[in-house]
Amino acid sequence: MTTKLKLAWAIWAAWTPALLAATPADIDRRIDGLLQRMTLEEKLGQMSQSTSMNTPLSDEIRDQIRKGRWGSFLNAGSAADRAEAQRIARKESRLGIPLIFGRDVIHGYQTVFPIPLGQSASWDPALIEQAARVAAQEASAVGIHWTFAPMLDIARDPRWGRIAESLGEDPYLAGVLGSAMVRGFQGKSLDARDSIAACAKHYVGYGAAEGGRDYNTTWIPELLLRNVYLRPFQAVKDAGVATFMSGFNDLNGIPASGDVFTLRDVLRNEWKFDGMVVSDYNSITEMINHGYAADASDAAFEGVRAGVDMEMVSTAYYDHLKSLVDARKVDIKLIDESVRNILRLKFRMGLFDDGPSLAGAPALSALDVARKVAAGSCVLLKNDGGTLPLLNSIGKVAVIGPLADSPVDQMGTWTLDGRREDVRTPLMALRERLGETRVLRAAGLNTSRDMSHDGFSAALEAARASDAVLLFLGEEANLSGEARARAFLDLPGAQEALVEEVAKAGKPTIAIIMAGRPLTFHNVASKVNAILYAWHPGAMGGPAIADLLFGDAAPKGRLSVTFPRTVGQVPLYYDHMSTGRPPSPSTLGIPAGSPLDPKDYTSRYIDIDYTPEYPFGFGLTYTSFEYSSLRLSQPGMTADGSLTVSADIVNNGSREGDEVVQLYTRQLVGSVTRPVRELRAFQRVHLRAGEKKTVEFTLRARDLAFYNERMKLAVEPGAFQVWIAPDAARGVEGGFRVTASL
Ligand code: NOJ
Repeated sequence: MTTKLKLAWAIWAAWTPALLAATPADIDRRIDGLLQRMTLEEKLGQMSQSTSMNTPLSDEIRDQIRKGRWGSFLNAGSAADRAEAQRIARKESRLGIPLIFGRDVIHGYQTVFPIPLGQSASWDPALIEQAARVAAQEASAVGIHWTFAPMLDIARDPRWGRIAESLGEDPYLAGVLGSAMVRGFQGKSLDARDSIAACAKHYVGYGAAEGGRDYNTTWIPELLLRNVYLRPFQAVKDAGVATFMSGFNDLNGIPASGDVFTLRDVLRNEWKFDGMVVSDYNSITEMINHGYAADASDAAFEGVRAGVDMEMVSTAYYDHLKSLVDARKVDIKLIDESVRNILRLKFRMGLFDDGPSLAGAPALSALDVARKVAAGSCVLLKNDGGTLPLLNSIGKVAVIGPLADSPVDQMGTWTLDGRREDVRTPLMALRERLGETRVLRAAGLNTSRDMSHDGFSAALEAARASDAVLLFLGEEANLSGEARARAFLDLPGAQEALVEEVAKAGKPTIAIIMAGRPLTFHNVASKVNAILYAWHPGAMGGPAIADLLFGDAAPKGRLSVTFPRTVGQVPLYYDHMSTGRPPSPSTLGIPAGSPLDPKDYTSRYIDIDYTPEYPFGFGLTYTSFEYSSLRLSQPGMTADGSLTVSADIVNNGSREGDEVVQLYTRQLVGSVTRPVRELRAFQRVHLRAGEKKTVEFTLRARDLAFYNERMKLAVEPGAFQVWIAPDAARGVEGGFRVTASL
């Protein structure tokens, strides 16, 4: 093709489908037409998602697809099977309604990125969007249309294994980063060839499982639900997420998959969501176990009443809704409404059309993106005396610990399709960088849970022969994720003992911790000189960590979740309420005084400091920043106004670096109590050594709105504290007032 022709082709490819794209009114007309022709069985088929499509496609499944028995398949079949199944649905079923194929593409498809909790520690929406874009390109290329991510459950309990899949503890941050993920998955338009539909899950409250035990009961008063747990969901709804998934949990006495209040009143009526809602895996029939539905028929009734459009895996809808409609217990209008939501999604995605729609953007270089995201997700927690970065001229390094060379563990939870052969472990990357002879490898322990001390003497020997010790600690992938709750948060197995042994060498020692959650490692921290928290960093974790250790990249991640000192402090999060007896730093032990003379009778522990080990927002760099001179453009604003808050940040270290500058506020008095701090905004700034920048935020009064005791979203007048800060525990402070609206 000549250049001119190529250009004309590109313009045509980019614009024609958009010009021809169906308008919402066209889509509604086509749906009306279909609904008139569909039998009730065909409608219920659309409302059913199955896992039963295996390779090769059985005659039974082919036949079922022809009859319109299924609207969707989950985690099923090969690319060829999906293509064939889709051909049958389009060409051989009575009405030609296409299937939608869903799959858990959680943090990458074949190219594995850091676990979502790790990605959220990047505080970098652009990076997260890129990772999701790559995942969408890889997954859509093999006929996957729909992913079950992002998971927006606010997670404040590291015992809960699914904290790994979360975007942390803060509703604002999770909303910003979740929206970036949605943009990455869904691309410019849902019907683009390389877009996949995203799914906001698990609606809602699943992360508040009592005791951190997965699937456990949740109790969240409406005030907390609205001010915290619902917020990230609303943010991604506003960002255009195509689907929602209802959760497994019992929320305030009603299973989330049968909850009219959250699913109908809030999601549909208040937020006007017109996408599709899918249940979680069997969560419709699990309403029987919850003791909310008497049997599968009752469960189907509750699910459809609440507005769950599609049932994942269990078959209560297909088996029972027909009799319920015939018996006039379920209005056919409810069924039509759900089918309409499902068909609308299929139209929006262009699944009814044969050919691809918008031309896809050129594929991003997946492994390069994975390396950038992994480096951006690591958080430097300790770096005494500038232990890091290491010099390339270093003699020998000892590489010790069970996670230095474990591809599967480094990939983390939810990697159904992860390409293991792409994974570059830290050991591989270090050998590549330094050469085999400068890397002394002694695992010490074979896995994170290994209790045997057999490998300790070899590890100590390697440490003694080295100039620096790199200790790769943490937890195996298998210890976090769904159904992986832990009652203890310490490094499992004999890892603490290994650290003690290796410390005998007296060499500069760096712990690199790979885990799916915040772990507690206070004793280890005191025995090493530096700590880099790498989460489960995905395929390119090895090179990314090596880049950071040797200063080719600088650490720029910040914690998106509070790290407790001990599991006994859990749940621990920064935006808690003040209490009537706020603690102040004081000695530990039994309080002085008595209840009648209440000295030291404050909200603290008698056996451990009440503060976290590392606060939300925390992360070191290879340089240091100083904050000063918080300024406000004016002393106050009206409830519909705004003001600017600024502060000076100076890089007073000797290297360039990124700072994630965070804006927090506190409303001192409200009609309901307000958190001691809330994140309102953040900005990443890059400063050269010695450079000073003024960082400015515009704060609108409406960003300060909260749900009050009448469940009304309102900006209440009053006094506020404001901080521009490096984390939730520090910062330069000022104050302003919000006055009543003009
Ligand atoms: C159950 C999980 O809770 C959900 O997040 C996931 O998407 C589905 N299984 C499908 O695999």
